[in-house]
Amino acid sequence: NDEIFKNVISHAKEYGFVFQSSEIYDGLSAVYDYGQLGAELKNNIKTYWWKAMVQMHENIVGIDSAIFMHPKVWKASGHVDGFNDPMIDNKDSKKRYRADQLLEDKIARYEKDGKQDKADQLQADMDTALKSENLSELRDLIINHEIACPVSGTRNWTEVRQFNLMFSTQFGAMAEGSEEVYLRPETAQGIFVNFLNVQKSGRMKIPFGIAQIGKAFRNEVIARQFIMRMREFEQMEMQFFVRPGEDKKWFEYWKTARLKWHQALGTSAEKYRFHDHTKLAHYANAATDIEFEFPFGFKEVEGIHSRTDFDLSQHQEFSGKKMQYFDNDLNEEGKPYGNYVPYVIETSIGLDRMFLLTMINAFEEQDISTEDKKDSRTLLRLHPALAPVKAAIFPLTKKDGLPEKAREIMNLLKLEHNVTYEEKDAIGKRYRRQDAIGTPFCITVDHQSLEDNTVTIRHRDSMEQERVPADQLERIIAERVSW
Ligand code: GAP
Repeated sequence: NDEIFKNVISHAKEYGFVFQSSEIYDGLSAVYDYGQLGAELKNNIKTYWWKAMVQMHENIVGIDSAIFMHPKVWKASGHVDGFNDPMIDNKDSKKRYRADQLLEDKIARYEKDGKQDKADQLQADMDTALKSENLSELRDLIINHEIACPVSGTRNWTEVRQFNLMFSTQFGAMAEGSEEVYLRPETAQGIFVNFLNVQKSGRMKIPFGIAQIGKAFRNEVIARQFIMRMREFEQMEMQFFVRPGEDKKWFEYWKTARLKWHQALGTSAEKYRFHDHTKLAHYANAATDIEFEFPFGFKEVEGIHSRTDFDLSQHQEFSGKKMQYFDNDLNEEGKPYGNYVPYVIETSIGLDRMFLLTMINAFEEQDISTEDKKDSRTLLRLHPALAPVKAAIFPLTKKDGLPEKAREIMNLLKLEHNVTYEEKDAIGKRYRRQDAIGTPFCITVDHQSLEDNTVTIRHRDSMEQERVPADQLERIIAERVSW
């Protein structure tokens, strides 16, 4: 499995999907750049999410709020005081670790060694210590379970301290009067502070949702597993505002709806599971993760949280502005619901994690040997709607007017689809390159094309070819790359 993951990472680099940030300077830890094909794939994932969430729901609208927000926002949301990781330093190696991560690694070790009782006990003790924010208890667990520093191998640990994950910078001139602002650690707060603006200007009636896609920043101490945990990443979040008392119903609704969204991409159902939280964040009364089976185990891709009226109430208190909704629908007793602070169900998915999931799920090294020839190919079995390039157009040879004919077809198709033209190398080699980047269709223009205006279209997954009229291509492609 490690092998598969390594292959996906090097494939992503080799074909221009993901690069290390500032690579010529040896990179910047936990920061990545998306290359020419990565940017396309990422945009296609965004479009799929936006269409499913905003376009398909008459009561959900999308916004694009700023990364910088008033510093009081993060006081109100609880991030200034509570968005921390418990950290511990090893005095010999001077390396810093997340205390809970060290314990989780130990739990995994116990499980691997068949010591399930010990694993369960440590898990329970850790949960209790984290819940009560008992930092010295966390340290005691590390000492008592004889956890050694992975670098120095010693057990010479400092106290456990809280470390805030928000990045901050100075707003305005550096001299006095300048103000400390944060880079947002989640996009959700941009939605909460605009709740009234959107509700009033859009004349929205509860239940309704506000969605957005945007960057978020967290000073993650442990950066690992490629684009799973980054310091700069992107979220696709939706806050769904509901009547108090209807939150549980909508929580269940969104759990089902979001899993469906994932599975509509054709991923096998066994690869997904829910992980309901027993330890809830300060703002939530229910929470679940949608987890995907990565090569390194089941990991969270998306969170669905029932956030109660916590955020809006906090902003009401800190801003002094009423964050209420007047609901003049009638309840069962025939009375209006009146004024209330709405409850919120949130769906929050990491775009980069979804990207990684998509790459891993699509990646395949396929043996295509025949009786007389050994052969293999690397393939990205992407859903055609997500594929960065929809079709590649090849003239069979570089002469006899075939390139001109192929260009003509290309110029028509590029008005609607992201397509590419290639004339270098033998056809077989050109097919392989397109397979490796997930292009669903390769179109070949040959001598017959000049006579009857037909071309061959070769399908990525089956490798089957069919002959079709060139003027049908746009329709054929459009049909298959749509949702
Ligand atoms: N507004 C709620 C919220 O931010 P979260 O569980 O902290 O909840 C939501 O984050 C999603 O964002 C996660 O499920 C994950 O996919 C993604 N995410 C969080 N931290 C990330 C990081 N450091 N790098 C990449 N993705 C991250």
